[in-house]
Amino acid sequence: MKRSFILRGHICHTPEAGKLEIRENAAVVCEDGKCRGIFEDIPEKYAGLEVTDCSGMLVIPGMADLHIHAPQFAYRGTGMDYELLDWLEHAAFPEEIRYEDPDYAGKAYGIFARRMQQSATTRAVVFGTIHPEATLILMDRMEESGLISYIGKVSMDRRSPPKLTEADARQAAENVIRVIEESAKRGYRRTRPIITPRFVPSCSDELMAELGRIREEYGLPVQSHLSENPDEVELVRQLEPEAAFYGDAYDRHGLFGRGGNTVMAHCVYSVPEEKERIRENGVWIAHCPSSNMNIASGIAPVRRYLEMGCRIGLGTDVAGGTSESMFRAVTDAIQVSKLYWRYVDREAKPLTFPEGLWMATKGGGSFFGKAGSFEEGYEFDAVVLDDSGEQSARPLSVRERLERAFYQELDRTGIVMKFADSERIL
Ligand code: GUN
Ligand code: FE
Repeated sequence: MKRSFILRGHICHTPEAGKLEIRENAAVVCEDGKCRGIFEDIPEKYAGLEVTDCSGMLVIPGMADLHIHAPQFAYRGTGMDYELLDWLEHAAFPEEIRYEDPDYAGKAYGIFARRMQQSATTRAVVFGTIHPEATLILMDRMEESGLISYIGKVSMDRRSPPKLTEADARQAAENVIRVIEESAKRGYRRTRPIITPRFVPSCSDELMAELGRIREEYGLPVQSHLSENPDEVELVRQLEPEAAFYGDAYDRHGLFGRGGNTVMAHCVYSVPEEKERIRENGVWIAHCPSSNMNIASGIAPVRRYLEMGCRIGLGTDVAGGTSESMFRAVTDAIQVSKLYWRYVDREAKPLTFPEGLWMATKGGGSFFGKAGSFEEGYEFDAVVLDDSGEQSARPLSVRERLERAFYQELDRTGIVMKFADSERIL
């Protein structure tokens, strides 16, 4: 049965991009797992619900991380002196090969899942590796964490180290199906599989076609990478001369939105036709500013995507990204947008804090349905922050405290409670 209760505190959320609503000393009502709204005075019909008193604390929606690589968490914060293709060869692939060993996977994924549980993230879209057994271990650990997550067994059948190359498209398809069917048997409540072609350079046309068929048959979402780095985009142009642009190489196989939910990380170098296809097909963009800085990819034109009405959220992209902190992702997104405005396009207004917060919550949360806001009917995801350890010579407004919490990465030390789909998980 879904839970019913009330949380009291300073309730803050972004029902629209750029519109920050702050209700001080208020209460947010969760009934049967769903938000029923924010109230200063609790309506009579909810009078019987249990109240959790977080007076003076900041209550915000849970964060949705639209792009993170669980196996790469082991080497986070290292290996940053490369660009994408060299970084894959020298940092990412050598680590991912280790996950053929279930013992290593168990240890590494235990650490990853615990950290995700402690973070401000309540929903995540996650890459594993090519290994079915390790991916199922990751699913087990994430299910235990209480987060709501999509976990992808990565598919790769070309241009990769032998130990990270599946035998052929048929074998790769069987591996994906094995994870889908075994995960269904395990009866997870919060963990689902997602079709995960690593990126076009790692996947033959035959593999893409197989994945398109599996996606259709099982009705699953899709995640991958798109137009992240100039050398990568050029490589795709050479490998897939039939594709009109990078994203078309996914779209031709039914792996680019339309029917099913698709999230594509980066979209830094998307040509105008690709941007238009992203919007038309309803593909979610996972903007990953930390990764784009660390492996020197560039800056995605996020203002343009917002103006076009594209679906967009944020990803930490560990371990291209520095850490799993979505608070850091919000401030990184704002900061790189200022450099983009200053150096690249004076028409592209920098992102504001409420826009960054919206992308991290309702923007990315929409990939999961109604999530990331305290509006009526939304699934109840919340993070309670205690910022009383931050000294100040004068009283700050709640708005100031909220912004400060993000810039100071209070998601590392200040989280006192976390709820995902109305269940308390921290
Ligand atoms: N493109 C293909 N694989 C990867 C990866 O692991 N990380 C990033 N950032 N880009 C990729
Ligand atoms: Fe990535």
